[in-house]
Amino acid sequence: MSLSAPDLRSRKRRRGAAPIVMVTAYDEPGARYVDAAGVDAILVGDSLANVVLGHADTLHVSVEDMAHHVRAVVAASPAAHVVADLPWLSYHLGVHDAVRNAATLIRAGAQSVKLEGGRERVEVIDALRDAEIPVMGHLGLTPQSVLAFGGFKVQARTHDAVDRLLADAAALQEAGVYAIVIEGVPGVVGTRVTESLEIPTIGIGAGPDTDGQVLVFHDLLGLSGRSPAKFVRPYADLGTAITEAITRYRDDVREGRFPGPAETYATPAELVE
Ligand code: KIV
Repeated sequence: MSLSAPDLRSRKRRRGAAPIVMVTAYDEPGARYVDAAGVDAILVGDSLANVVLGHADTLHVSVEDMAHHVRAVVAASPAAHVVADLPWLSYHLGVHDAVRNAATLIRAGAQSVKLEGGRERVEVIDALRDAEIPVMGHLGLTPQSVLAFGGFKVQARTHDAVDRLLADAAALQEAGVYAIVIEGVPGVVGTRVTESLEIPTIGIGAGPDTDGQVLVFHDLLGLSGRSPAKFVRPYADLGTAITEAITRYRDDVREGRFPGPAETYATPAELVE
Protein backbone atom coordinates (compact mmCIF):
# COMPACT_ATOMS: atom_id res chain seq x y z
CA MET A 1 0.00 0.00 0.00
CA SER A 2 1.61 3.25 -1.07
CA LEU A 3 1.83 6.36 1.09
CA SER A 4 -1.35 8.45 0.99
CA ALA A 5 -1.79 12.22 1.05
CA PRO A 6 -2.97 12.04 4.70
CA ASP A 7 0.18 10.01 5.54
CA LEU A 8 2.31 12.79 4.05
CA ARG A 9 0.21 15.49 5.73
CA SER A 10 1.20 14.10 9.13
CA ARG A 11 4.94 14.41 8.40
CA LYS A 12 5.79 17.57 10.36
CA ARG A 13 9.39 17.49 11.60
CA ARG A 14 8.70 19.51 14.73
CA ARG A 15 6.28 16.76 15.76
CA GLY A 16 9.07 14.20 15.42
CA ALA A 17 8.41 13.00 11.85
CA ALA A 18 11.24 12.08 9.48
CA PRO A 19 11.77 14.56 6.61
CA ILE A 20 9.75 13.84 3.46
CA VAL A 21 11.94 12.80 0.51
CA MET A 22 10.49 13.52 -2.93
CA VAL A 23 12.12 13.10 -6.36
CA THR A 24 10.64 13.69 -9.80
CA ALA A 25 10.21 10.91 -12.36
CA TYR A 26 8.68 10.88 -15.82
CA ASP A 27 8.82 7.29 -17.05
CA GLU A 28 8.74 3.67 -15.89
CA PRO A 29 12.50 3.03 -15.50
CA GLY A 30 13.00 6.37 -13.75
CA ALA A 31 10.15 5.66 -11.34
CA ARG A 32 11.49 2.14 -10.71
CA TYR A 33 14.97 3.44 -9.79
CA VAL A 34 13.55 6.23 -7.62
CA ASP A 35 11.16 3.91 -5.83
CA ALA A 36 13.85 1.29 -5.21
CA ALA A 37 15.69 3.97 -3.21
CA GLY A 38 12.75 4.14 -0.80
CA VAL A 39 11.66 7.75 -1.26
CA ASP A 40 8.30 8.91 0.13
CA ALA A 41 6.88 10.61 -2.94
CA ILE A 42 7.41 10.74 -6.69
CA LEU A 43 6.48 13.99 -8.41
CA VAL A 44 5.55 13.72 -12.06
CA GLY A 45 6.59 17.34 -12.48
CA ASP A 46 5.86 19.70 -15.32
CA SER A 47 9.67 20.05 -15.33
CA LEU A 48 9.02 17.29 -17.89
CA ALA A 49 8.98 20.23 -20.32
CA ASN A 50 12.57 21.23 -19.45
CA VAL A 51 14.42 18.05 -18.61
CA VAL A 52 12.75 15.56 -20.96
CA LEU A 53 11.27 17.59 -23.82
CA GLY A 54 13.98 20.25 -24.08
CA HIS A 55 11.89 23.41 -23.60
CA ALA A 56 13.24 26.50 -21.84
CA ASP A 57 10.35 26.65 -19.37
CA THR A 58 7.43 24.59 -18.07
CA LEU A 59 4.75 26.38 -20.09
CA HIS A 60 4.90 23.89 -22.94
CA VAL A 61 3.27 20.77 -21.53
CA SER A 62 -0.41 19.90 -21.66
CA VAL A 63 -2.66 17.79 -19.45
CA GLU A 64 -2.40 15.02 -22.07
CA ASP A 65 1.42 15.16 -21.93
CA MET A 66 1.31 14.93 -18.14
CA ALA A 67 -1.20 12.05 -18.18
CA HIS A 68 0.98 10.14 -20.65
CA HIS A 69 3.95 10.38 -18.25
CA VAL A 70 1.86 9.66 -15.14
CA ARG A 71 0.77 6.39 -16.79
CA ALA A 72 4.43 5.52 -17.46
CA VAL A 73 5.42 6.27 -13.85
CA VAL A 74 2.62 4.23 -12.28
CA ALA A 75 3.51 1.32 -14.57
CA ALA A 76 6.45 0.87 -12.14
CA SER A 77 3.89 0.20 -9.34
CA PRO A 78 5.80 2.45 -6.95
CA ALA A 79 5.37 2.19 -3.19
CA ALA A 80 5.92 5.95 -3.03
CA HIS A 81 3.03 8.39 -3.28
CA VAL A 82 2.61 9.67 -6.85
CA VAL A 83 1.71 13.36 -7.18
CA ALA A 84 1.25 14.94 -10.61
CA ASP A 85 1.65 18.58 -11.59
CA LEU A 86 -1.35 20.35 -13.05
CA PRO A 87 0.33 22.13 -15.97
CA TRP A 88 0.01 25.80 -16.82
CA LEU A 89 -3.49 26.84 -17.95
CA SER A 90 -5.08 23.62 -16.74
CA TYR A 91 -6.51 25.30 -13.61
CA HIS A 92 -6.69 28.97 -14.59
CA LEU A 93 -9.83 28.91 -16.73
CA GLY A 94 -12.44 28.00 -14.14
CA VAL A 95 -13.07 25.39 -11.51
CA HIS A 96 -14.90 22.91 -13.75
CA ASP A 97 -12.01 22.84 -16.15
CA ALA A 98 -9.58 22.42 -13.24
CA VAL A 99 -11.50 19.50 -11.74
CA ARG A 100 -11.79 17.79 -15.13
CA ASN A 101 -8.07 18.20 -15.79
CA ALA A 102 -7.13 16.98 -12.32
CA ALA A 103 -9.43 13.98 -12.81
CA THR A 104 -7.54 13.12 -16.02
CA LEU A 105 -4.30 12.92 -14.00
CA ILE A 106 -5.97 10.92 -11.21
CA ARG A 107 -7.43 8.47 -13.75
CA ALA A 108 -3.95 8.17 -15.26
CA GLY A 109 -2.82 6.91 -11.84
CA ALA A 110 -1.74 9.91 -9.75
CA GLN A 111 -2.84 9.93 -6.11
CA SER A 112 -2.86 13.71 -5.78
CA VAL A 113 -2.18 16.83 -7.85
CA LYS A 114 0.07 19.85 -7.31
CA LEU A 115 -0.71 23.39 -8.42
CA GLU A 116 1.17 26.69 -8.19
CA GLY A 117 -0.03 29.88 -6.54
CA GLY A 118 -1.47 31.28 -3.32
CA ARG A 119 -4.67 33.02 -2.29
CA GLU A 120 -5.89 33.24 -5.90
CA ARG A 121 -6.08 29.41 -6.00
CA VAL A 122 -8.37 28.89 -3.00
CA GLU A 123 -11.53 28.54 -5.11
CA VAL A 124 -9.91 25.90 -7.32
CA ILE A 125 -8.56 24.01 -4.30
CA ASP A 126 -12.06 24.01 -2.76
CA ALA A 127 -13.48 22.52 -5.96
CA LEU A 128 -10.75 19.87 -6.18
CA ARG A 129 -11.33 18.90 -2.55
CA ASP A 130 -15.09 18.73 -3.22
CA ALA A 131 -14.18 16.20 -5.91
CA GLU A 132 -12.12 14.29 -3.27
CA ILE A 133 -8.81 15.08 -4.97
CA PRO A 134 -5.91 15.75 -2.56
CA VAL A 135 -3.93 18.88 -3.46
CA MET A 136 -0.31 19.87 -2.86
CA GLY A 137 0.50 23.59 -3.09
CA HIS A 138 3.60 25.27 -4.56
CA LEU A 139 4.82 28.76 -3.56
CA GLY A 140 7.91 30.94 -3.99
CA LEU A 141 9.71 30.66 -7.31
CA THR A 142 6.78 29.06 -9.11
CA PRO A 143 8.16 28.16 -12.58
CA GLN A 144 4.81 28.64 -14.34
CA SER A 145 5.14 32.36 -13.41
CA VAL A 146 8.48 32.74 -15.21
CA LEU A 147 7.18 35.35 -17.67
CA ALA A 148 5.43 37.34 -14.94
CA PHE A 149 8.55 37.16 -12.72
CA GLY A 150 10.81 38.18 -15.63
CA GLY A 151 13.01 35.09 -15.21
CA PHE A 152 13.83 32.39 -12.69
CA LYS A 153 14.58 34.70 -9.75
CA VAL A 154 14.85 33.96 -6.05
CA GLN A 155 11.59 35.15 -4.44
CA ALA A 156 10.60 36.61 -1.04
CA ARG A 157 13.61 38.90 -0.66
CA THR A 158 11.78 41.81 1.02
CA HIS A 159 9.63 42.07 4.18
CA ASP A 160 6.52 42.72 2.06
CA ALA A 161 7.21 39.73 -0.16
CA VAL A 162 7.77 37.50 2.88
CA ASP A 163 4.47 38.71 4.39
CA ARG A 164 2.68 37.88 1.10
CA LEU A 165 4.27 34.43 1.02
CA LEU A 166 3.21 33.76 4.63
CA ALA A 167 -0.35 34.90 3.87
CA ASP A 168 -0.44 32.67 0.75
CA ALA A 169 0.85 29.67 2.71
CA ALA A 170 -1.75 30.24 5.43
CA ALA A 171 -4.52 30.52 2.78
CA LEU A 172 -3.43 27.26 1.12
CA GLN A 173 -3.36 25.49 4.49
CA GLU A 174 -6.82 26.86 5.33
CA ALA A 175 -8.07 25.67 1.92
CA GLY A 176 -6.93 22.16 2.81
CA VAL A 177 -3.78 21.38 0.83
CA TYR A 178 -1.88 18.51 2.45
CA ALA A 179 1.64 19.92 1.90
CA ILE A 180 3.29 22.88 0.18
CA VAL A 181 6.40 22.93 -2.02
CA ILE A 182 8.46 26.05 -1.25
CA GLU A 183 10.86 26.83 -4.09
CA GLY A 184 13.66 29.36 -4.56
CA VAL A 185 13.51 31.50 -1.41
CA PRO A 186 16.21 32.45 1.12
CA GLY A 187 16.76 29.72 3.72
CA VAL A 188 15.48 31.95 6.50
CA VAL A 189 12.17 32.32 4.63
CA GLY A 190 11.89 28.55 4.19
CA THR A 191 12.32 28.25 7.97
CA ARG A 192 9.77 30.97 8.71
CA VAL A 193 7.06 29.51 6.43
CA THR A 194 7.66 26.02 7.82
CA GLU A 195 7.33 27.29 11.40
CA SER A 196 4.11 29.11 10.53
CA LEU A 197 2.28 26.01 9.25
CA GLU A 198 0.76 22.83 10.70
CA ILE A 199 1.09 21.04 7.34
CA PRO A 200 4.51 20.00 5.98
CA THR A 201 6.61 22.10 3.62
CA ILE A 202 8.79 20.45 0.97
CA GLY A 203 11.70 22.64 -0.04
CA ILE A 204 13.66 23.04 -3.26
CA GLY A 205 16.12 25.87 -2.84
CA ALA A 206 14.44 26.82 0.46
CA GLY A 207 17.16 25.83 2.93
CA PRO A 208 17.51 22.94 5.39
CA ASP A 209 14.57 23.58 7.73
CA THR A 210 11.60 22.60 5.57
CA ASP A 211 9.76 19.37 6.43
CA GLY A 212 11.07 17.65 3.31
CA GLN A 213 13.12 18.15 0.17
CA VAL A 214 12.47 17.59 -3.52
CA LEU A 215 14.96 17.45 -6.38
CA VAL A 216 14.53 16.95 -10.10
CA PHE A 217 15.72 13.46 -11.21
CA HIS A 218 18.01 14.80 -13.95
CA ASP A 219 19.62 17.40 -11.64
CA LEU A 220 20.22 14.87 -8.85
CA LEU A 221 21.85 12.40 -11.24
CA GLY A 222 23.89 14.78 -13.41
CA LEU A 223 21.71 14.22 -16.48
CA SER A 224 20.48 17.74 -17.11
CA GLY A 225 23.34 18.79 -19.39
CA ARG A 226 23.52 22.24 -17.77
CA SER A 227 25.42 23.65 -14.81
CA PRO A 228 23.36 22.92 -11.73
CA ALA A 229 21.45 25.63 -9.88
CA LYS A 230 22.85 26.65 -6.48
CA PHE A 231 20.33 24.51 -4.60
CA VAL A 232 21.18 21.28 -6.49
CA ARG A 233 23.61 18.70 -5.14
CA PRO A 234 24.44 16.27 -7.99
CA TYR A 235 24.75 12.82 -6.40
CA ALA A 236 26.07 11.22 -9.58
CA ASP A 237 27.46 12.17 -12.99
CA LEU A 238 25.40 9.76 -15.07
CA GLY A 239 25.58 12.03 -18.11
CA THR A 240 29.35 11.47 -18.34
CA ALA A 241 28.94 7.75 -17.58
CA ILE A 242 26.38 7.40 -20.39
CA THR A 243 28.54 9.18 -22.96
CA GLU A 244 31.59 7.11 -21.94
CA ALA A 245 29.64 3.85 -22.28
CA ILE A 246 28.25 4.78 -25.70
CA THR A 247 31.72 5.88 -26.86
CA ARG A 248 33.09 2.44 -25.89
CA TYR A 249 30.24 0.79 -27.83
CA ARG A 250 30.95 3.02 -30.86
CA ASP A 251 34.64 2.04 -30.79
CA ASP A 252 33.85 -1.67 -30.35
CA VAL A 253 31.48 -1.62 -33.35
CA ARG A 254 33.92 0.30 -35.53
CA GLU A 255 36.84 -1.95 -34.58
CA GLY A 256 34.98 -5.26 -34.91
CA ARG A 257 34.93 -6.11 -31.17
CA PHE A 258 31.12 -6.02 -30.92
CA PRO A 259 29.26 -8.29 -31.14
CA GLY A 260 31.57 -11.08 -29.98
CA PRO A 261 30.86 -14.77 -29.36
CA ALA A 262 29.10 -13.96 -26.07
CA GLU A 263 26.54 -11.79 -27.87
CA THR A 264 26.07 -14.10 -30.90
CA TYR A 265 23.56 -17.01 -31.11
CA ALA A 266 25.34 -20.35 -31.58
CA THR A 267 25.03 -22.16 -34.90
CA PRO A 268 22.18 -24.77 -34.76
CA ALA A 269 23.42 -28.34 -35.40
CA GLU A 270 21.47 -28.53 -38.69
CA LEU A 271 23.34 -25.49 -40.03
CA VAL A 272 26.81 -26.85 -39.22
CA GLU A 273 28.31 -27.80 -42.60
O1 KIV B 1 8.00 20.28 -11.94
C1 KIV B 1 8.79 20.10 -11.01
O2 KIV B 1 9.79 19.37 -11.11
C2 KIV B 1 8.54 20.81 -9.76
C3 KIV B 1 9.62 20.78 -8.73
C4 KIV B 1 10.67 21.77 -9.11
C5 KIV B 1 9.10 21.00 -7.37
O3 KIV B 1 7.52 21.40 -9.60
